[in-house]
Amino acid sequence: TDRYAIIGNPVAQSKSPLLQTAFARRLGQDMSYEAILATADTFHETVRRFMGEGGKGMNVTAPFKLDALDLVDEMSDRARAAQAINTLKFDDAGVYGDNTDGAGLVNDIQERMGISLAGRRLLVIGAGGASRGAFLPLLEAGPAYFLVVNRTESKAHAIVSDRAEQGRVEAGPIQRAEGGRFDVVINATSVSLTGDRLPLPEGIFAESSLAYELAYNKGHTAFLQDAAQGGAAHISDGLGMLVSQAAEGFLLWRGVRPDISEAMSLLREE
Ligand code: ATR
Repeated sequence: TDRYAIIGNPVAQSKSPLLQTAFARRLGQDMSYEAILATADTFHETVRRFMGEGGKGMNVTAPFKLDALDLVDEMSDRARAAQAINTLKFDDAGVYGDNTDGAGLVNDIQERMGISLAGRRLLVIGAGGASRGAFLPLLEAGPAYFLVVNRTESKAHAIVSDRAEQGRVEAGPIQRAEGGRFDVVINATSVSLTGDRLPLPEGIFAESSLAYELAYNKGHTAFLQDAAQGGAAHISDGLGMLVSQAAEGFLLWRGVRPDISEAMSLLREE
């Protein structure tokens, strides 16, 4: 039995054990998956111990996604771009770090929802860790126009940085979205967790547009309500992204891709 785990603080709330165990059962993989609590002081030694005991991989959740950067021998381009790691793989080559969050988001939009990002106009609101993690995979999906806006403008510019391209890949303050019309609008801020309301400019939703909230299990958030009223045709929270990023990690570890929709129903039933 190959051992895997998620490490975080807190970690008891994590859906990863449920998801990974369901994937493993469905695909007949002989593996176990546990939740491990660590502190800032014990994070590194806890990971090393798990490896020493023969562990094959870990998911890393808050607040350790940045700390994990220090313990990898190699990392994926998308982890480097995100400057954060959510998946570790241990083998003879050492410790490999990946970040599956952005790919999870892109897969959820394109595969589960059937909405292609290629050639579309894309707006991301927020420039924290979640936004930084999603940027490269979203850009690689080929939007015709991609604007990142944030309350603190400088952080939006930092995310876009050397990928900036006038008229195609741009950053600015939230008001910068005014007057634009977008096919996909993603809320990557933490307002849905704090109960704040975003100053969403009017008229930004193009016909048949999608409003996507990265947060999940928050019901119809103020952002999603405003979006529906503002003309968004499709709305979604981030539950599918959660399942898809887990599936992407499972693929890295086991070489097979689990089914998303089945795991989504499992979580919705919960
Ligand atoms: P996460 O890891 O979830 O991305 P984070 O790194 O703390 O969390 O980032 C939170 C994001 O939500 C930031 O973009 C933040 O904007 P600032 O960079 O200006 O702080 C945004 N945010 C939080 N509260 C907000 C509010 N009331 N209005 C607008 N943006 C807000």
